[in-house]
Amino acid sequence: MVASVDGSMTVNGRSGGMSNEGDRRIFHVLRSMADTILVGAGTARAERYGPARIPGDLSASRARRNQNPLPPIAVVSRSGVFDDDLPLFNPDLIGDGPVPIIITCTDGEANVQRLGSRAEAMVTGDTDVDLARAMTMLAERGIGVVVSEGGPMLNASMVQLGLLDELCLTVSPLTVAGSAGRIISGPSELATPIPMELAHLLEMDGALYTRWRFTHPTA
Ligand SMILES: NC(=O)c1ccc[n+]([C@@H]2O[C@H](COP(=O)([O-])OP(=O)(O)OC[C@H]3O[C@@H](n4cnc5c(N)ncnc54)[C@H](OP(=O)(O)O)[C@@H]3O)[C@@H](O)[C@H]2O)c1
Repeated sequence: MVASVDGSMTVNGRSGGMSNEGDRRIFHVLRSMADTILVGAGTARAERYGPARIPGDLSASRARRNQNPLPPIAVVSRSGVFDDDLPLFNPDLIGDGPVPIIITCTDGEANVQRLGSRAEAMVTGDTDVDLARAMTMLAERGIGVVVSEGGPMLNASMVQLGLLDELCLTVSPLTVAGSAGRIISGPSELATPIPMELAHLLEMDGALYTRWRFTHPTA
């Protein structure tokens, strides 16, 4: 995740306006470690997601870890409704790589089926997505490392369910003001805030690169 000093998660509706060289490098390194990249449908739509690409210098370490060359993108969507022209579903961009997985529920499945072979539906509940079940279903396929790229609604659900182990957050040296939301934002506050442990802190050109561990009671 990336946020400005005053806590905004976007500039003009997208997170790219806050990114910089270090953030982009971390973004690619994190992606390169993923068995799958998880993302909320709102972010996939707003950021015009396409299939993941791993820079050449990071591909070799995937091979050493016996990971597939490219991680599939797994999009969480209750509705299953997407624009047909989202780059994620473009067969030319998918090529020989993995098709996206749409983590949905029975109510959204028919909408995902409209994408045909350009997406795979993973049904995890009846009227809403069961994220804990989704993590189990991914694990059953050997997907152990899930790198979640947000956005705020998905993050809030994951936090509420205790499904996140750590949070990588870039603090970008900008003040944005305005009314853009926060990186974790759901309908209700946690009954008890989760204490976080700082795992590392790096600085480059005034940007802070932080990694935080969630200290769940069961951890
Ligand atoms: N600064 C950052 O680091 C950062 C990172 C990521 C995104 N963003 C920004 O966040 C904005 C998008 O935010 P958003 O509010 O749309 O959040 P989002 O979490 O990306 O997307 C929300 C949508 O995802 C699906 N979804 C998420 N959680 C779900 C759950 N628990 N169960 C079922 N469906 C779930 C639903 O899709 P359906 O409507 O299809 O049911 C929901 O409407 C964009 O402006 C993006 O640039 C910023």
